[in-house]
Order: sequence, then structure tokens, then C-alpha cells
Amino acid sequence: MEKKILALLLVIICTAPACKWLSNPKVNSEDKVVRLLNVALAEEWLAAYQYWIGAQIIKGALGQQAEAEFIAHYQEELKHAQQLADRIIQLDETPVLNPNEWLKLSPKGYDHPSDFSAKALIGQNIDSEKRAIKRYEEILALVHGKDHATYDMVSGILRDEMEHEQDLERLVE
Ligand SMILES: [Fe+2]
Ligand SMILES: [Fe+2]
Repeated sequence: MEKKILALLLVIICTAPACKWLSNPKVNSEDKVVRLLNVALAEEWLAAYQYWIGAQIIKGALGQQAEAEFIAHYQEELKHAQQLADRIIQLDETPVLNPNEWLKLSPKGYDHPSDFSAKALIGQNIDSEKRAIKRYEEILALVHGKDHATYDMVSGILRDEMEHEQDLERLVE
């Protein structure tokens, strides 16, 4: 009788998510990496749109210079989205499928431009770049020493985001 109760208890415990983690501690951290790669993917599409729409509506001093910079950054954010989707697929997972999910995945959501001056638009994009830098630093800390392919890819993206921030800061100096 006692053996039956013990067996039943084991069945109950091992159907709990904790058992999956206990039997393979890597599973949990890999799930988190994929989740964050999808968050980053959603944020790249939102950032690309923010640059693209900014380039269409920009007004005032610095407008032309900023427009060219916004378009260059827009293209690089799309390249980052491609890299993230490729890596998620390499990890046998699915990149976010529905644009409705972008805003749900991105904790800061999306600040649509309300002031069309170059200064305001540049400021909004600087804030987004700062958030992107934090996101990629978070992923790097998670995969350091564990997943070299993701580490290398994210390091390259992080360098681009730091350059983007500097490009924009230079425009308003
Ligand atoms: Fe990016
Ligand atoms: Fe960027």
C-alpha cells in the first residue's frame, strides 16, 4: 500500500513543471533565452517602424540629416530581426508569428511620435536604443559561457545598437 502511495506521489510530482527543470536544469534557461530572443525580435520590428515612420514625418532643423540616419538605422533593425529569427529557428523554436504579439512582448510598448520635430523624434529613438542596449546586455548575461552562437550574434547586435545611440547623440550635440 505504501509503495502504491509513493508511486502515485512520484507521478504527481514528475508531471509538475519543476520536475522538468530538476531532470534537466538547462531546459529552463534555454526557454528563457528563446523567450528573450522573441522579445528582442518584437522590439526590433517596433524600433524599425519607429525609425521608418519618423523618416516620413520629420520636420524642422536637422530634418534631412536625421531622415538619412533614421533610414540607415531602420535597415539595420530589420537585419537584426532577421538574425534573431534565424537563431530562434536554429534552436528549434518558432519566431513570434503575429504582430499583435509585438506590443504584448515588449514591456515598454511603443511610443508613437506626437511631436514631429527632429529633436523630439531623435530623443524618442535614443530612448529606444538605450532600452535595446539593456535588452541585449540581459541576453548576453544569460547565455555567457553556455551558448556561444547566441552570444556572438547578440554581441554584434549590441555593438550596432551602441553605435546607433552615438549617431543620434551626435546629431543633437
Ligand atoms: Fe536593432
Ligand atoms: Fe538600433
